[in-house]
Amino acid sequence: VDLECFNTLAIPAVAERFCQVVSLDQLRDSLATFSAAGYDNPLILGGGSNVVLTQARYPAVVHLQMTGIEFGERGRVQVAAGENWHAFVQTTLAHGCYGLENLALIPGSCGAAPIQNIGAYGVEVGEFIVAVSAVHRHTGKIQEFSAEACGFAYRDSYFKTTEGREWVVVRLHLQLRESARLNLDYPELARAWQAQVEWLSEAELAITDEARRLACVVAALRRHKLPDPAIKPNAGSFFKNPVVDSASFEQLQRQWPDIVAFPLANGQVKLAAGWMIDQAGHKGRVSDGVGLHDRQALVLVNPGHRNGEAVLAFASSIQADIARQFGLSLEIEPDQY
Ligand code: EPU
Repeated sequence: VDLECFNTLAIPAVAERFCQVVSLDQLRDSLATFSAAGYDNPLILGGGSNVVLTQARYPAVVHLQMTGIEFGERGRVQVAAGENWHAFVQTTLAHGCYGLENLALIPGSCGAAPIQNIGAYGVEVGEFIVAVSAVHRHTGKIQEFSAEACGFAYRDSYFKTTEGREWVVVRLHLQLRESARLNLDYPELARAWQAQVEWLSEAELAITDEARRLACVVAALRRHKLPDPAIKPNAGSFFKNPVVDSASFEQLQRQWPDIVAFPLANGQVKLAAGWMIDQAGHKGRVSDGVGLHDRQALVLVNPGHRNGEAVLAFASSIQADIARQFGLSLEIEPDQY
């Protein structure tokens, strides 16, 4: 199977064995079958919107397609790993469950959401997760991880650690709100909310539920700034925003008075990597089919459908230049396999 259409960066790669699973039992069976055949660590793919495929060939690939959304009492909801994230957000809002509106239109599947603790516009999914069910790759055992055990942090969780990677996320248990409380902390979103008429269609403006309307504003903002993977292959932000202590920030600010930064509760400062890459002159630059988006420099685009090696070589050149100009090392955000 050609994996190019199973990853949103459109990196060409071949799966020598490919198994789509629609249930927990099928997942366990495929893991056991692959393992018995000597393929102990199959590549697990969900929506493929946060991976860099670094190999030309993968001996075994499992594509998660389990579906199902179940609403419980008082804003509790469970969702299976294979459900599309944005469709899930819309279903929760239609059901009168609130909280995920700022995370509208994030590409990918629900199973991937806790792994990198997806976040946007001042909200992270970890805030709403009560537990995550996961299957162990080698034993087939199913285990529930509490929110604490998930170790959520900025674009990070237990499931990104070496030990955590042995688990395949199969189901999320969330606690949503029964009444809407809009989060407009992110200045860009607050501005767009004030200027709704500029962002929404007439049909959207007529939506009376404010949280649903906010989800439409978030979606409009994302459509404006972020490239559609179907048109320009990408995996969203390619680098994490670096976090520095206040002393380092003040030093950087002396050199770069306009540097864009968000103070964190713990006194540290999160810097906008997109701004730095933009300042360094790389926004919109494309070289040999790999480049950076012209409206958001943090998003790497792969219009040439280049392979993982070419994508990472381009990313390294950006990392090196940011290290040279700002003395900071940028960390790659998507998973590399
Ligand atoms: N900026 C520039 N030039 C650019 C890009 C950004 O000057 O080319 C400036 C902007 O003007 C803005 C600041 O940098 O003042 C931050 O930009 P933006 O609001 O676009 O957010 P970001 O920090 O670049 C993060 C997330 C996004 C998320 C947005 C909105 C990370 C790695 N990325 O981007 O998440 O949608 O905030 O909350 O934290 C993703 O993870 O794939 C993703 C898209």
